[in-house]
Amino acid sequence: METTAIPKIHDTAQDFMPINGTDYIELYVGNSKQAAHFYKTAFGFQSYAYAGLETGLTDRESYVVVQDKIRLVLTSPLRSGTDIGRHIDQHGDGIKVVALWVDDAVYAYNTAISRGAKSYMEPETLEDESGKVVRSGIYTYGETVHIFMERKDYHGTFMPGFKKWETPDYNPEPTGLKYVDHMVGNVGWNKMDYWVEFYEKVMGFVNILSFDDKDISTEYTALMSKVMSNGNGRIKFPINEPAEGKKKSQVEEYLDFYEGEGVQHIAVATDDIITTVRQLRSRGVEFLRVPDNYYDAVTDRVGKIDEDIAPLKELGILVDRDDEGYLLQIFTRPVEPRPTMFFEIIQRKGAQSFGKGNFKALFEAIEREQEIRGTLH
Ligand code: FE2
Repeated sequence: METTAIPKIHDTAQDFMPINGTDYIELYVGNSKQAAHFYKTAFGFQSYAYAGLETGLTDRESYVVVQDKIRLVLTSPLRSGTDIGRHIDQHGDGIKVVALWVDDAVYAYNTAISRGAKSYMEPETLEDESGKVVRSGIYTYGETVHIFMERKDYHGTFMPGFKKWETPDYNPEPTGLKYVDHMVGNVGWNKMDYWVEFYEKVMGFVNILSFDDKDISTEYTALMSKVMSNGNGRIKFPINEPAEGKKKSQVEEYLDFYEGEGVQHIAVATDDIITTVRQLRSRGVEFLRVPDNYYDAVTDRVGKIDEDIAPLKELGILVDRDDEGYLLQIFTRPVEPRPTMFFEIIQRKGAQSFGKGNFKALFEAIEREQEIRGTLH
């Protein structure tokens, strides 16, 4: 049995960039109204907030949907010639903003900038009758940005400029998704260590795990990955780069189709992955499949687990173990036309790692899809 120990996160008293958690994730999409409907219907998010023509905006429209601690903002342009429209033209639907919840957005911005970050948004205060938020932003890989959100003095819906979005006639049941467990970035050739150093230097993150191309390879393709974590461990950003293989890896395919670096997947946590995945499948979410023989050896590999193997096999849920426990995980197919961003559903039962024991089976499953797309060559 292969095990992976995770070093303890560094002393939070030494953490110069305290982050409370993921605040929201904003996607630039072709049709925000329909995307919001998809995330409600298929993933079980609830209507939460809206900004657009009805709130005085003339260039864009945003819908915010929520499930437990996860907030997605879906934004589309209302006319041609906007930066949002240009972003969608280049990248397709994709993640623009990974917002981080902080106590002091001015301090976070000044600290990040003084440590070498590139500015995206200088600190600004937004106010309405429910209080104020302060936000600021920096660039990370590609055109992706981090916005620092300070909302301790705000008691309204999402943030000033948004109104409550209520859909009393249609609120599908949640599917048990709880919070963002980790979020993975794909960066270019030989750029992984550059972005590892960026998160270390600018935001005080630490590299808690590394996987080289021998850890993550199949007969045909390979990639490398380093996992960055903030001080309290609530933010985990694995960063992938392509590695040389006989054929084009999934990271190269992503970089080709996204036309640049960007967010590859968002892993969302559940307390009951069997129920969650059964729900998601019944609502049309498509998942990657590993061959049935994956399950022949699973008990030998991970030992005894609480779940029966039969429903895991039926649903295609993967299992891995490390020194601290085990985890269950499954990956959706891309959720937009281009083979770019997808979701992972994860349930941790002690394990704090990322499913190294599943990499090979998983990447072979991705290669089978690449083969069908004609991008494995
Ligand atoms: Fe993941």
